[in-house]
Amino acid sequence: MYFEDKRTDTLQKKFGILGKSAGVQSMLETVEQVAPTDISVLIAGESGSGKELVALALHKHSKRSHKPFIIVNCGAIPAGIIESELFGHKKGAFTGAQSDRKGYFQSANGGTIFLDEIGETPLETQVKLLRVLEQGEFLPVGSSNSMKVDVRIVAASNRNLEKEVDAGTFRKDLFYRLKAITITVPSLRDRKGDIPILANKFAHDCAIRNQILFKGFSEGAYQIMSQHRWPGNIRELKNFIESMVILEKGGVIKTDVIYRYLNAESVPAELNPLLPVKLDRNVDQAERELILQQLFMLRREIGEMKEILTQGLPSRAGFDAASDEYNQALEVLPDEQDSEINNDLASPILNPQMLGNLTAAQVEKELILRSLQRFNFNKRKTAKALQMAERTLYRKIKEYDIVKEI
Ligand SMILES: Nc1ncnc2c1ncn2[C@@H]1O[C@H](COP(=O)(O)OP(=O)(O)OP(=O)(O)O)[C@@H](O)[C@H]1O
Ligand SMILES: [Mg+2]
Repeated sequence: MYFEDKRTDTLQKKFGILGKSAGVQSMLETVEQVAPTDISVLIAGESGSGKELVALALHKHSKRSHKPFIIVNCGAIPAGIIESELFGHKKGAFTGAQSDRKGYFQSANGGTIFLDEIGETPLETQVKLLRVLEQGEFLPVGSSNSMKVDVRIVAASNRNLEKEVDAGTFRKDLFYRLKAITITVPSLRDRKGDIPILANKFAHDCAIRNQILFKGFSEGAYQIMSQHRWPGNIRELKNFIESMVILEKGGVIKTDVIYRYLNAESVPAELNPLLPVKLDRNVDQAERELILQQLFMLRREIGEMKEILTQGLPSRAGFDAASDEYNQALEVLPDEQDSEINNDLASPILNPQMLGNLTAAQVEKELILRSLQRFNFNKRKTAKALQMAERTLYRKIKEYDIVKEI
């Protein structure tokens, strides 16, 4: 045990990746083994869990460390220009190509390229990535001479690529080529024991950087933070700690402060009877559950409004998460897979009679639309309020065609 602890301490320091949980220990061991090699690596993990940090550690501890480390966010590059961005283009290859241009692969020559969100690349581009992986060569757009590069490829995805392969949106051959070495970064809720270590480190670093006093967290504060779900993983924890340390400078941070900073919706299930979110759910399930809760609350509000209108008296009935009423509300919603999305859900107000017939997707669309309106279409704020990764919000806006309604 003592030996294992020392070993983990050494690896944490070496790679700048904090954590002592079993998941992190095995991740650090794999990083230690594969970093010095040239083998390509796939990093899997939820948004904000630390994939980029792992990619950087792989590069920094390889013989390529003094050469470039190029990060490409494949999800952020429009499909129409992704190939020219990755592989470069020749002068005149398309309108506007006024001169030859180097792509990311050429810029990364000798070093490492980090293909973040590789699951978002178009299928045609995936064929070309496979060729680079297998032969180290590619064709710049508009060129008939292939180019050779010496680049190590590290890819990451927060989508389940196996499912994408089944759905036909990710090439099987590329997936098998990439997945030989997969490093899975555990989500924060699967490594709760690491939360105090991370919280402390982030708080101390922030205090030093901003030259403010930080006296530590109370036991209760650690407990609440450890029970929280952190859907945005380490990134969310880090932002949370930093804003709290800056705004609450001085004393020991206790439970009341933590509660004040965690909004009501994100207080851990055990401590908040309003939110029966169980801790063993994945993000999709948790998201769906939050939507269902919102739906239930909406139904209750409508019920209360109806009561006020008919009787002139407000309802005193409290919301009981474990009540039959709540469970019935969940039951009336069909499974997402079974449902057909009704695209003409244009009304911003839900008709109470219709609620029971709505699909989860329709309710989700409505919630997203309302939240966007509430936050003046600020996507960052909306994503935060919905506890959804910004990227997921963008995807859903596209999926539900919300753009047209904005
Ligand atoms: N184990 C860790 N120890 C210390 N800091 C960490 C750790 N993991 C992540 N972080 C910090 O958390 C933040 C988010 O990490 P990172 O950007 O690597 O996540 P990601 O998985 O790439 O997220 P996304 O999918 O949204 O791109 C960064 O500031 C990073 O430095
Ligand atoms: Mg990242």
